[in-house]
Amino acid sequence: MPITFAFVGPGRVGASLARRWALAGMECLGAVGRDAARTEDALAFVGAGRPLSPFELGESAAVVLLTVGDSALPGVVEDLVAARAVRPCSLWLHTSGLFGADVLAPVAAAGARVAALHPLVPIPDREQGCKALSGEAALVEGPAAARHLLRTLCRRAGLHPVEVTGPIDRAAYHAACALAANGTTGLLGLAARTMERALGVDADRASSLVAGLARAACQRVGLEGAANALSGPVLRGDTEAVRVHLDAIARTGGAVGEDAYRAVMRLVLSLARQRGLAADAAEEVERLLSAPLGGVHG
Ligand SMILES: NC(=O)c1ccc[n+]([C@@H]2O[C@H](COP(=O)([O-])OP(=O)(O)OC[C@H]3O[C@@H](n4cnc5c(N)ncnc54)[C@H](OP(=O)(O)O)[C@@H]3O)[C@@H](O)[C@H]2O)c1
Repeated sequence: MPITFAFVGPGRVGASLARRWALAGMECLGAVGRDAARTEDALAFVGAGRPLSPFELGESAAVVLLTVGDSALPGVVEDLVAARAVRPCSLWLHTSGLFGADVLAPVAAAGARVAALHPLVPIPDREQGCKALSGEAALVEGPAAARHLLRTLCRRAGLHPVEVTGPIDRAAYHAACALAANGTTGLLGLAARTMERALGVDADRASSLVAGLARAACQRVGLEGAANALSGPVLRGDTEAVRVHLDAIARTGGAVGEDAYRAVMRLVLSLARQRGLAADAAEEVERLLSAPLGGVHG
């Protein structure tokens, strides 16, 4: 018997996971959405299922996936419970990084098992998301009785389950994820714009060049940790190079770019200190980075 599932919130993550599960032999019964056309469109992408009412949701799905936005989640949970959508013994899980399984307490009180499964993958759209899930991690949280099913659900989506035993500080966890994924993307946007102007190449070429560098840096961080992976002028205490960079970034990235360069290089400086950068060299770099915006030019 295939595992039956339905999902609520037919957006990027919902459609990506549902398609992966459907391709892996699970049976998609359908989705609950706010907009009929968008829900139909997501189900066409998944390749199975039909639009469902909240009441129908509970009739036969063994697994109910909630993929509405973070801030909508608590309200959607309340509405679904009030609409008698919860079927006892089914497993309900959400994909928010911000909440643990406890946000689904009203669903648990109605007799279902509850869990959280957060893919540690940026999903800019459902097509990319469907591919990007392969081989990446997902933080899972749920009762022991649901662990086996949670691992199966991860594997069917191509994800590696990450289980932790102690309490999770969700706000800090989510901030770390946002820094690693969205922060890197924002920074690479600035790097690509700067590269594009520096070399006179087109935006695609510039993006590809900076992404290659970032890929190599990310690989080193994954293997050795951030401090050991560090290279570059700050690690060498080369204040002249930092001064030249600040000037160039102010010209190409404007005040926001310069601000970002200073903030990021302060983080780099703390790693350089861990790697043994001499105190006087570190202080000189610190002074330069702390100078008021535009204060190092001319
Ligand atoms: N995208 C990522 O990179 C990523 C990665 C990991 C985890 N997550 C988490 O996954 C969750 C979904 O993110 P997403 O990027 O897929 O968001 P999304 O693309 O905005 O999708 C959210 C979906 O929920 C629907 N929705 C909102 N309120 C609803 C309601 N009351 N009833 C039914 N459907 C409702 C939206 O419908 P409308 O079309 O009507 O707005 C939309 O289809 C979030 O908790 C997010 O933090 C996201």
